[in-house]
Amino acid sequence: MAPGVAAPAGPRPARSPRTADGPARSADWLRIAALAVAAVAAVVAGIAFTGAAAPTALRDPGALVRWGLPIASTGAELAASATLGGLVLLATVLVRRDEAVVRAASGITAVAAAVWTLTAVVELVLTYANVAGLSPTDPAFGGELGQFVTQFELGRVLLFVAVAAAVVTALALMTTSPVGTAWVAGLVLVALWQSAQTGHAAGAASHDLATSSMFLHLVGAALWIGTLLALSPLAHRLGADLAPAVARFSVIAAWCFAAVAVSGTVNSIIRLGSWDDWTTRYGVLLLVKIALFGVLGLLGLAHRRRVVGRLAGDDRAVGWLFWRLVLVELTVMGAVSGVAVALGSSPPPVPDDPITDPTPAEIVTGHLLPPEPTTLSWITQWRWDVLLASAAVAGIVVYLRWVLRLRRRGDTWSWARTASWVTGMVLFFWTTSGGPAMYGHVLFSAHMVEHMILAMVIPVLLALSAPVTLALRALPSRATRAGAGRGAGRGAPDASRGPREWLLGLVHSRLGRFFANPVVAAVNFAGSMVVFYYTDVFRWALTSEVGHYAMVVHFSLAGYLFVNALVGIDPGPNRPPYPQRLLLLFATMAFHAFFGVALTTGDVLLVPDWFGLLGREWGPSAIVDQQRGGGVAWGIGELPTLALAVGVALAWSRDDERTARRRDRKVARDGDTEMDEYNAMLARLAQRDVPGTVEPRAPREP
Ligand code: HEM
Repeated sequence: MAPGVAAPAGPRPARSPRTADGPARSADWLRIAALAVAAVAAVVAGIAFTGAAAPTALRDPGALVRWGLPIASTGAELAASATLGGLVLLATVLVRRDEAVVRAASGITAVAAAVWTLTAVVELVLTYANVAGLSPTDPAFGGELGQFVTQFELGRVLLFVAVAAAVVTALALMTTSPVGTAWVAGLVLVALWQSAQTGHAAGAASHDLATSSMFLHLVGAALWIGTLLALSPLAHRLGADLAPAVARFSVIAAWCFAAVAVSGTVNSIIRLGSWDDWTTRYGVLLLVKIALFGVLGLLGLAHRRRVVGRLAGDDRAVGWLFWRLVLVELTVMGAVSGVAVALGSSPPPVPDDPITDPTPAEIVTGHLLPPEPTTLSWITQWRWDVLLASAAVAGIVVYLRWVLRLRRRGDTWSWARTASWVTGMVLFFWTTSGGPAMYGHVLFSAHMVEHMILAMVIPVLLALSAPVTLALRALPSRATRAGAGRGAGRGAPDASRGPREWLLGLVHSRLGRFFANPVVAAVNFAGSMVVFYYTDVFRWALTSEVGHYAMVVHFSLAGYLFVNALVGIDPGPNRPPYPQRLLLLFATMAFHAFFGVALTTGDVLLVPDWFGLLGREWGPSAIVDQQRGGGVAWGIGELPTLALAVGVALAWSRDDERTARRRDRKVARDGDTEMDEYNAMLARLAQRDVPGTVEPRAPREP
């Protein structure tokens, strides 16, 4: 037991969570200090081991820069993690019924963001000193640094991250609401995306894959370490609300563990060319990292098995174990972050040098031309997109977990819907990482196949699997849970937002209802095709990763909202009567056909400096292929729309049957009041037509 720190017990009953006493506060600092010391020790040891900080023969910036830079980078990684973690605590993890706790969490987040800003600025300055081989004390340093941050990609990215950190600091002080902190967390993700574009991932080796997997890696690591790091100094204030917060963190940690493992494996495959490379200093350091990751996994398991479910009780032993685990976990997290930066600063076995003598396709797309497409190659050719592939796998895991949850409590869920969802996700996986993605980069017609499957085929499968309905049935509501007087006895409902509350918020938000509106969905679905192909958006989607993801997300969502408005099961849009739905559908079909014909008959090549410069020796010319793409848009586009029309007609007839059955039941129960009223009206009309009779007044409505 560390001297001077009282053994922190489990949640102390009947104690206000407002303030953390002396021993608790010093224990907080002990944990943060343990993380920081482990991180610095690990990065220094890692760098010393790989020799990444050895003096350079030419233009040596000096030891301060060579050793200071990796330490500053580690500090920036951890501070960015704590910032993201603090924002996630406020957005969804913390139980919200005590303003003092919310303010404390916001304070911790702002401090973390301020440290991030500082370390990001130091990292920027030392990076330039290291790149230029110039000591920061050199008189010319300032001027050159100015050029670095304005004229060089790396400088601009590092400046962007530092500015984003400063903006996050200010915003973290101003907003504590779940929605506000979620938006600020979005800005942190943008900064992490920029960070993922630097380092070895910026090199040529599998660039797209390297940056997207690095992004998943950085987010997974930051969320995992950051949430625990931000929770630790707060935990003493939470009292009985610590247990639900730890349980929610545990779910996040499990997903982060999976994300870090998958992306780490991909990073390793990119950086290591062969098994022998594991014996290099880089390889050995990576093995150390994987071992530390394994230790973290075991600690997480111990949490789950021994702490999470029992923290709500007053068992001091559990509380003691919890704090011990947190201290060890944060220390190991510090160490693995240090090793990570040492790895990022050391030359990997597979050099990330620019491609020498690139082919035209490599110059334009960054990739070699795939082989001529055959039926088989559409199945065998893969260009992995870690983010989208992980999203598809996560989509299947989450949906099946919800179905199992319903089953476990005795509720049923149609297997057809489950099969439809899984098929949709598998198709998404293939469309974004398989043949369509591979050929969609070099053939307009293949790009159109990718687009049509994303916007037309997959949404039909997803809309018919009613994911929102399932989610709302499977996910617990935060408000009802807290009211149950779980030890807190305080009974105030938990105003925090869990997955269920966020989903409901999204579906019922003004924006959600606007885009779910059937007319808006139809215009968005059909109109965005013209905007996409006949403006520079198409070029953006081809030439930048962000553009590519924006395209995939937009077309998938636009398709889902359109299909859901017509034949969906999920709540949300006010669906128009069936005749109008059919009208909307035929109008969209006509528009689609018109778009297809325009492409088929068009003779102006879209994005000519892409499709025209690939040096493709197989297949039709670029313009002929584009015209074929028009045929694909028409062909693949119309089939699902036709299926939708059949779907609407079937739903219509089923609805009619339901109405008829309802009416029959009412007639059987109350007699045919409608017919009676109708006959009475006819009688009155007949009466009126007899000459000389006074028209009796219709009885007044009660
Ligand atoms: C909690 C565990 C982990 C954390 C916190 C973590 C964190 C990080 C960070 C921050 C970076 C970027 C370093 C930089 O460029 O400055 C990184 C890179 C990397 N990580 Fe991890 N990582 C973890 C687990 C893993 C695992 C399990 C693997 C392997 C399976 C892995 C493989 C890699 C590789 C290969 C890189 C690229 C390094 C380079 O740029 O050369 N990481 N990691």
